[in-house]
Amino acid sequence: MKITPKKDSQNFSLPLPIFHSVHIADAISKEGEEFDVLVGLNKEQVGQLKKLSLDKNDIDIQNHTGDRERFGKGLYEEWYALNRTPFCLIHKRTDALTALVWFGRKDLGKKSIKFGKEEIPTNRTLFEHEWHTVSCRSYPPFRGTGLMQNFTQFSMDTYKKQFTSAMFWTGMDDRNKPIVRLMTKLEFEVDKENSDLSNNWLVMTKK
Ligand SMILES: CC(C)(COP(=O)(O)OP(=O)(O)OC[C@H]1O[C@@H](n2cnc3c(N)ncnc32)[C@H](O)[C@@H]1OP(=O)(O)O)[C@@H](O)C(=O)NCCC(=O)NCCS
Repeated sequence: MKITPKKDSQNFSLPLPIFHSVHIADAISKEGEEFDVLVGLNKEQVGQLKKLSLDKNDIDIQNHTGDRERFGKGLYEEWYALNRTPFCLIHKRTDALTALVWFGRKDLGKKSIKFGKEEIPTNRTLFEHEWHTVSCRSYPPFRGTGLMQNFTQFSMDTYKKQFTSAMFWTGMDDRNKPIVRLMTKLEFEVDKENSDLSNNWLVMTKK
């Protein structure tokens, strides 16, 4: 997928106010589908996220993420208050939420909602290092169509311009082949020390 940043697209500062979004780039897939790249989600997009997270037919979301609890049953406002920064891809023709990548400061290796409990935010000075978590989602019909590598890389680069000392980590189920493949392609490396492979918790980092 080719991503073209918009002129003056860096004129925002994170975190954005809740439900604000900024159109930072345009993207076009190999198949010629066009997308907006946004930082932040507006209320309509949060509505879509809630619906997608509750979709029982989406086995990948239900089996591999805690989104049903996080966004489906939980309040976006509470999640956003954890200092999370979402980036999304919106399909231009249909306005469909196509993909989501989010970041936020979180201690390295701390298990996600799927593997335990969502982190309660602590004062930022208490964080030992500048570790920021990365989480990725793509939604049907675009999942598995090769959008995620460039979109995730672009989002990481944009985020890093504002959090210059950020080091990235991500935690996943080691049986979840698409995310392991995606993160490996993004040059994340396995962090054995913080993984718990007997419980399928795989941690990967990129400094
Ligand atoms: C993980 C996820 C974001 C990856 O997005 P995607 O749309 O599949 O990404 P892409 O199409 O860009 O593919 C990424 C890589 O995974 C590979 N892949 C995709 N599906 C695969 C599968 N079922 N088995 C093995 N590899 C797979 C692709 O081939 C591609 O590698 P390649 O470029 O070398 O061919 C997406 O599958 C998803 O949202 N899953 C549900 C939510 C989830 O599990 N998120 C991660 C929680 S930790």
